[in-house]
Amino acid sequence: MDQITDRTTVNGKKSRSRVLEMSINGETHEITVKPRVMLLEAIRDKIGLTGTKDGCESGTCGACTVLVDGQPTLSCISLAVENEGKDIRTVEDLADGDNLNFLQEAFLDQGGTQCGFCTPGMLMSATALLEKNPKPTRDDINKALEGNLCRCTGYNSIVDSILQASDQGVKPRLL
Ligand code: FES
Ligand code: FES
Repeated sequence: MDQITDRTTVNGKKSRSRVLEMSINGETHEITVKPRVMLLEAIRDKIGLTGTKDGCESGTCGACTVLVDGQPTLSCISLAVENEGKDIRTVEDLADGDNLNFLQEAFLDQGGTQCGFCTPGMLMSATALLEKNPKPTRDDINKALEGNLCRCTGYNSIVDSILQASDQGVKPRLL
């Protein structure tokens, strides 16, 4: 839609709000944002999907990763207006109601979720990987997750989670 809806003055400069039609997890949402609003803020504050995490806000931690047209994207450094009309998927898209998907179940089985803060970003990067490469190697997984930081440092269990999800012989642990 991309309509200009109003003009305001901020710090002496003109700022224009726009109405955007955003496709999030298969649903269209109409939101009004200023041009400088980032996709992360639009998803969390305008649409109310708070699964996507706000970590560094500078493109370094990966906590805010969503999929845009299937590609992992750092929503904290991508403008909302740039994503109008694109297919955006967040971590809320993975489960079916209360039923976790196979990747989320594998994270639980392997202890890939510790404090959980990095988990949504990890899940979305892993989802993009598995959609392109259903049988990734450890190296493939490490490369796919290189932009996702885990302060709890449980990287091995996260990699094992993805190997289990891809049915490569990693069995669920006894937790
Ligand atoms: S919050 Fe986006 S990369 Fe850290
Ligand atoms: S599980 Fe705590 S930051 Fe990764």
